[in-house]
Amino acid sequence: MIVSDLRDLAGQKFNVITADPPWMYQKRPGLKSEGVEGMGEGVKGIAEREYPTMTNEELAAMPIRDLAADDAHLFMWFTNPGTFGNRFSDVDPEDIARAWGFEFRTILTWVKTAQHGGVSGGGMGWYFRGATEHVLYATRGKAKIESHRREPNVIMAPARGHSVKPHEFIEKVERACDGPYLELFARRPREGWTVFGNQIPEPDNALDFAGALSSRAGGSDA
Ligand SMILES: C[S@@+](CC[C@H](N)C(=O)[O-])C[C@H]1O[C@@H](n2cnc3c(N)ncnc32)[C@H](O)[C@@H]1O
Repeated sequence: MIVSDLRDLAGQKFNVITADPPWMYQKRPGLKSEGVEGMGEGVKGIAEREYPTMTNEELAAMPIRDLAADDAHLFMWFTNPGTFGNRFSDVDPEDIARAWGFEFRTILTWVKTAQHGGVSGGGMGWYFRGATEHVLYATRGKAKIESHRREPNVIMAPARGHSVKPHEFIEKVERACDGPYLELFARRPREGWTVFGNQIPEPDNALDFAGALSSRAGGSDA
């Protein structure tokens, strides 16, 4: 099922929610950019050439609490500069998980690999070139991952286009947790999942869209 308005899901409950938020990399008024001059504006521009972004405050206000089952798992992507009471916002990814009714548990890390193997050269970064992105894992109620389904918290996969997340992540989620599954801020339909987003093409166009995305250059922090 594809939805562009969360109100269409009223009354439904999901055991697993993944989110890849359209983080807005804005500078707080009066805060000077450190490191490379102008880099903050550059990063902001790249995300916003691809899609509209949302502030952390707007994300925290989304009614996700109502869509989560009593015992539920949340997997939320975030980038290296976008955490820990960061320069962009007073609200960090953990605050958003809490606002949605979840408690932080641990982090998964995607290591972006190069075509020849090993770690990719990385994208942009204020201090180091970003070759990783992370997933905050949080739970609500008594949600647990059974011991025989627990895997290493690392995903090794190549970058496939601006902000495209590896399918190895979804496969890991499905191996760890049973649905119903909801993907927030999806960009393509996914079998067995309810997907929400404002860039999801109708199923007839989905293959062309996926091809267009994967043909773009990869490797970024966003
Ligand atoms: C980081 S991208 C998601 C990338 C996706 N996970 C992938 O692997 O291709 C964030 C997505 O959220 C969408 N988005 C931004 N604002 C939105 C809104 N208010 N409602 C729904 N989707 C929104 C953007 O258009 C974009 O498609």
